[in-house]
Amino acid sequence: MSGIALAVIGGTGVYRLAALADVETREVETRFGKPSGPIRIGHLLGQKVAFLARHGEGHSVPPHQVNYRANLAALKDIGATRVLALNTVGGITERFGPRVLACPDQIIDYTWGRISTICEEPGSEVLHVDFGEPYTPLLRHKIAAAARVTGVKLVDGGCYGATQGPRLETKAEIARMRRDGCDLVGMTGMPEAGLARELGLDYACLAIVANWAAGCGTGEEITMAEVLANVEAASAGLPELIGELARG
Ligand code: HPA
Repeated sequence: MSGIALAVIGGTGVYRLAALADVETREVETRFGKPSGPIRIGHLLGQKVAFLARHGEGHSVPPHQVNYRANLAALKDIGATRVLALNTVGGITERFGPRVLACPDQIIDYTWGRISTICEEPGSEVLHVDFGEPYTPLLRHKIAAAARVTGVKLVDGGCYGATQGPRLETKAEIARMRRDGCDLVGMTGMPEAGLARELGLDYACLAIVANWAAGCGTGEEITMAEVLANVEAASAGLPELIGELARG
């Protein structure tokens, strides 16, 4: 199948794209195994868009157990060439408070023990992909342009720190990440971005800030209820933005 203008991977709190019309469901098996769930393919503002819930549609797959390779390979196998990753995150620095949408341009990887390359199998070609710009610059620019056209407020840039989870971070861990230059913290940004590069997919992240990270902002305890309420509120403009992005 081809003609898919854009593939979207949904994160915590984004388990479906309600605005997708004429939805067709594909169960895909890849050379890396099964993705987190079915791929829903439909039309959004006239464009063919594929959607996959990173943690499964019932949020049953924790960040360290997501089969990132299968998720991306499945999207590639159905003909997608561009991937918009929605990542629910905590905000560390001032500009990235709850309900902010951000399009980061850098990543620091603090995860461990995850399969982080497609070169894992014996006999596979060893790849050393350039990763200086971890997100595809042209796709990032198109996201910023789509946000402008649709009137969605977006912070353009920022550094995403990917932690192991599934627990949230300590205040000391976040203080260290701030010193390292991180603006955002989430559990799923890596190895996904690196694998997308190895697979030759255009890939960019739209981060949805759900809470202040530990010790930041008001310093209050982080609850799942807060996270989900803020993701829902911040996602209001996403269908238009995604539709516009798929057009361009
Ligand atoms: N830390 C890590 N991941 C997250 C957070 C956080 O504070 N909020 C949402 N995802």
